[in-house]
Amino acid sequence: MSAATPLRLAILISGRGSNMEALASACASGVLAARVAVVIADRGGAAGLDAARARGLETAALVHAGDRGAFERALEALLERYRPDAVALAGFMRVLSADFVARYLGRMFNIHPSLLPKYRGLDTHRRVLEAGDAIHGASVHFVTPELDAGPVVLQSQVAVLPADTEATLAARVLEVEHRIYPQALRLVAEGRTTVAAPK
Ligand code: GRF
Repeated sequence: MSAATPLRLAILISGRGSNMEALASACASGVLAARVAVVIADRGGAAGLDAARARGLETAALVHAGDRGAFERALEALLERYRPDAVALAGFMRVLSADFVARYLGRMFNIHPSLLPKYRGLDTHRRVLEAGDAIHGASVHFVTPELDAGPVVLQSQVAVLPADTEATLAARVLEVEHRIYPQALRLVAEGRTTVAAPK
């Protein structure tokens, strides 16, 4: 990936797609030297698909019928068609198999609403509040076979306030997500990040 060629980006979503929109905006404004090749959802009703279409982006819905192997074969065929340089998971709520992840190692990224390695998995905001943490945040990381465990590209902190509820904390973290995902992919587009296999 060089600074001269815009990165071809595939974005995978499951829901409202606000991180997808943050990435698409950054591409459109030139902040991120990338082009959204396709937005793919794992269900037809994902609100983010409408948002992507409203932006004139190509979209596809791949319905997960309960068979991960079949879903991943269809996803791979779709991705081959768009030949992305990078695949951005943006609120994509499926766990991908180790084989699938291996094929995209070093060029697949995820945004996670916690300061990894703390709070992998779901319900991060609730768990942070229950633990009484003063600091929370978001991380962009390379996707590796182990869930939410790949090397971190970028992360940013937010303060946890005494009056916070899950909803207020989630909203504050989401603002950070929208900022750091484009920044992290900018590092990728500029060739400033690589992931190396352990020696
Ligand atoms: C984000 O908080 C993301 O970190 C988490 O799910 C949420 C998705 O939001 N995994 P959106 O679909 O990008 O709006």
